[in-house]
Amino acid sequence: MIVCVCRRVSDQQIRQAAADGAVSLECLQFELGVATQCGRCADCASRVLCEARSHASQPPHGAVAMLQPQLA
Ligand code: FES
Repeated sequence: MIVCVCRRVSDQQIRQAAADGAVSLECLQFELGVATQCGRCADCASRVLCEARSHASQPPHGAVAMLQPQLA
């Protein structure tokens, strides 16, 4: 889905930027040019970034078991 029509930036590009370390709308503006023209996409771009970051911060399936201390 295209999030930013002016700069033709998709949600996938925003998700990739989040995976690469983008943490704010300002990061997306610098990296992708999102919301740097008309600005109408700013809220949507922020939501996509927030969603991508929240998914990225969850441990992979099974990771919790690996992080528990081993009691002997
Ligand atoms: S739609 Fe993103 S700057 Fe216009």
